[in-house]
Amino acid sequence: MSKSEDWDLPDLDATMKGERQHDWISEPRFKKMFSEIEDGLQGVLGKGTYDWVDRRVFDAVFDRSTLLSLHKLMEKGDIETIDYPIARGKEAHVFHATSNHGPVAVKIFHTTNAVFKSLTKYIDGDPRFGGLKRRHRELVKTWVRKEYRNLKRMRKVGLPVPRPLAILNNVLIMDLIGNRDEPAPRLKDVIVDDPKGVFDDLLDYLAICWQSCDLVHGDFSEYNILWYDGEPWIIDVGQAVVAAHPNSEEFLVRDVTRLVKWINSQGYSIDLGESLLRVLEDEVPSLTPYSDGD
Ligand SMILES: Nc1ncnc2c1ncn2[C@@H]1O[C@H](COP(=O)(O)OP(=O)(O)O)[C@@H](O)[C@H]1O
Ligand SMILES: [Mg+2]
Repeated sequence: MSKSEDWDLPDLDATMKGERQHDWISEPRFKKMFSEIEDGLQGVLGKGTYDWVDRRVFDAVFDRSTLLSLHKLMEKGDIETIDYPIARGKEAHVFHATSNHGPVAVKIFHTTNAVFKSLTKYIDGDPRFGGLKRRHRELVKTWVRKEYRNLKRMRKVGLPVPRPLAILNNVLIMDLIGNRDEPAPRLKDVIVDDPKGVFDDLLDYLAICWQSCDLVHGDFSEYNILWYDGEPWIIDVGQAVVAAHPNSEEFLVRDVTRLVKWINSQGYSIDLGESLLRVLEDEVPSLTPYSDGD
């Protein structure tokens, strides 16, 4: 994501004032809910470290149904406060948040996206497509459930992925990888002392995932590996598919290829074919399962 897409935007209160789009916030039934979660959202509402100036970005993340979901999660204590954004992407924003047990990562999937928005131009008002928005929301929900399940399944064989804590609609709450106020950097952003050691571990993880977990990550890259406490942690597993998926082998080859490219960019010359064989055929080490896995 480029630096120019700035987080620092003008005061949200000012921006929102007089915007008809936000009128729902003052409807009596939402007003109560909104004032209840306003405190929890101070960190990202413009009173904390980050201001949203671009209302469209705020809308894309905190739409009405998302606020309702967050409200429920706050009532349950899964979230006390949403503190600041860690990362934002086309499909999701990830926030540092605090639960009643400590820091957590909250991944909020957008329920609308650019493609979808441009489509609505053509279908809004066409009675045949009345259910499309709902269907899109359902799709996002399924995606979130899939990420949750994949995380559980990977933890069951001991793979280092964040522990999923709760899901509701388009919101996934998981352990924060990192220290209390310091989310872990991506592998892309660090220099590791022993790249070959990290490569071997990661190749083992791909093999364990394939052989013991029956899953292929599908988007394995230095962007989706966090570096914490001297160890790599795998994240972003929503797209992971089972081995029976028609493209699973193609995805596996791609994941291994990316990993080999990474290590070779660190001055090594590791052979792709051998690495693939290791993943497919070598006996994999067994890791200690996490007790919270499925
Ligand atoms: N559990 C977590 N702990 C700390 N940081 C996280 C966690 N999950 C995600 N992140 C941060 O958020 C970014 C985006 O999360 P990711 O799951 O990769 O979503 P996307 O689908 O947008 O790529 C990551 O690159 C990482 O910096
Ligand atoms: Mg990612």
